[in-house]
Amino acid sequence: MPTATFLPGYRKAVVPSGTTILDAARAAGLPMNVVCGGQGKCGKCLVFIKDGTVSFDIEDCRRFFSNNEIASGACLACRATIVGDVRVEVPAESLIQEQKILVEIPGMKEVPLKPAVWKYEVHLTPPSLDDTTPDLARLLEGIEGQEGPPPNRIYAPLEVLCYLPQVLRRSGWHVTGTVALVPGGYRLLNVDEGDTTGRLYGAAVDLGTTTVVAYIRSLTDGRVLATASNYNRQISCGEDILSRVNFARKSGLSRLQQLAAESINESLKSASDAGGIDLEEIFEVVIAGNTVMTHLLLGIDPSYMIAEPYIPVVRRMLSTAAGRIGIAAHRNAGVYTFPAVSNFIGGDIIADILASGMADRDEVSLMVDIGTNFEAVLG
Ligand code: FES
Repeated sequence: MPTATFLPGYRKAVVPSGTTILDAARAAGLPMNVVCGGQGKCGKCLVFIKDGTVSFDIEDCRRFFSNNEIASGACLACRATIVGDVRVEVPAESLIQEQKILVEIPGMKEVPLKPAVWKYEVHLTPPSLDDTTPDLARLLEGIEGQEGPPPNRIYAPLEVLCYLPQVLRRSGWHVTGTVALVPGGYRLLNVDEGDTTGRLYGAAVDLGTTTVVAYIRSLTDGRVLATASNYNRQISCGEDILSRVNFARKSGLSRLQQLAAESINESLKSASDAGGIDLEEIFEVVIAGNTVMTHLLLGIDPSYMIAEPYIPVVRRMLSTAAGRIGIAAHRNAGVYTFPAVSNFIGGDIIADILASGMADRDEVSLMVDIGTNFEAVLG
């Protein structure tokens, strides 16, 4: 079946021949503007064919687009069908504009860059009969030589070991190792061919009961590269916290976990598209949510939080790998959730306190979070 690749975000869909570009875009998760419902009447679903084979009537296009646009490959996504592999550029105007969700925080204090993940570019000496050091030891010694952690503190997962020999030899022994700080030491997350040290990203996510906001930050220079937001898809299972916990109690926990991950992924994908970043290059994801949302995201049963004596399973900070809870980042990326103070003062409030800097001020301050729930903090 042909593959449709949508630019600028490189989203892909493998679809049967004869599928419209509009349906392929939907399959790739792109919310296209379809004012006329895909009847070829509104001209809002403009896309540009960059290369590949599609079939469409050029006269349909002439009704809406200029000769210059047609010369650049313009066509209607709802009328053009895919014949073979194709690359399609989707202008921002052809996508549905989400309702505005606040993503900028005026006056927020500067956050120093202190990532828990680093990349090390190494040029290794190839092995010989005089030097039979194993591949892993050779790599870890190289990382230590670049001011990385000592080899005996770095755990290397089996998955990395399985592809390591090929990557080392294909690259001519010039690779980049990605190493993260984890409880008890360090973990080798990934090994790339060549130098990829300039492409290391982290994501900060506000997982709200109603909305989700994601910020993608370069972990090499600290720049915030893109932000995106969307609605929490769990709304389909209940609007407020109580109804979601009740949904979880009725065998719906795994569904809510999946919807939380999908909601975060939607924001991460939009932000990575906007920033021209491959999701596989995100190696750290920090998520702030209220106590129930954090439980649901991690697939932890929140049932006992809504009845006396109101007990959460956990309040401490937790970490796991992105691949384990379905977060769209590198599968070994560390996902960290903020700790909570209580059932009702969750990780989102802790993150607010840190971001506002109120804990560092001498004067009395008051922070009020008016969201789906309402919290106030006196500092
Ligand atoms: S959706 Fe209206 S013309 Fe394609």
